[in-house]
Amino acid sequence: MKATVVYYSHKGKTVGYAREIAMYLWSKGWNVSLSSLSDFKPERIRDTDLLITGCWTCGWFVVGQHPHRTWVDLSRPLAGIIPAEQTLFFTTYKIHTGSMFRKMKKVMQIPRESHSPELKSKTGRLTEKDKQILDQFIRNKRFNF
Ligand SMILES: Cc1cc2nc3c(=O)[nH]c(=O)nc-3n(C[C@H](O)[C@H](O)[C@H](O)COP(=O)(O)O)c2cc1C
Repeated sequence: MKATVVYYSHKGKTVGYAREIAMYLWSKGWNVSLSSLSDFKPERIRDTDLLITGCWTCGWFVVGQHPHRTWVDLSRPLAGIIPAEQTLFFTTYKIHTGSMFRKMKKVMQIPRESHSPELKSKTGRLTEKDKQILDQFIRNKRFNF
C-alpha cells in the first residue's frame, strides 16, 4: 500500500510537518513517497492509494486565507484522480487557517460536502491528536482495495 505526501513550503515549517507525517506512516508499515510538489511528476499519482497534500497558509492573517498560487498551479494536474476519502490535506499557519481547507478541496475537485481529513499545525510537529487523525485515515484502508 502506497501513500504519497506532497507539499509546498516557503520557509521550511511545512516540509518539516510533511516529513513527520511521512515518517509516521512509514512507521505504520506504509510505502511512503515524500516530495515537494515542484519535483513531483503528476503521472506518479496513479500508483498511489493515499494522497496527503499540504501548503502553508497564505492570507491577511485574520481573513482571506488561501493556498499559495504555486500549490494551486502544481496541484491542478493531480485533481479529480484520488477520491475524497483517500485524500488528506494539511497546512501550517501562525494565527488562523480560515478558508484554507475549503479552497484546497476546491482545487482538488473534491466536493465541499465530502469528508477529507485535515491536519493543521502552528509548530510543524506531529502531535498525538494528529497521529490519531492519521490512524483513522489509514484504518481499514488495506481492506478496501
Ligand atoms: C505572505 C504571508 C502570508 C501569511 N498569511 C497567513 C495567514 O493568513 N494566516 C496564518 O495563520 N498564517 C499566515 N502566514 C504564516 C505562514 O502560514 C506560516 O508561517 C507557515 O507555517 C509558513 O510555512 P513554511 O515555513 O513552510 O513556509 C503567512 C505568511 C506569509 C509569508
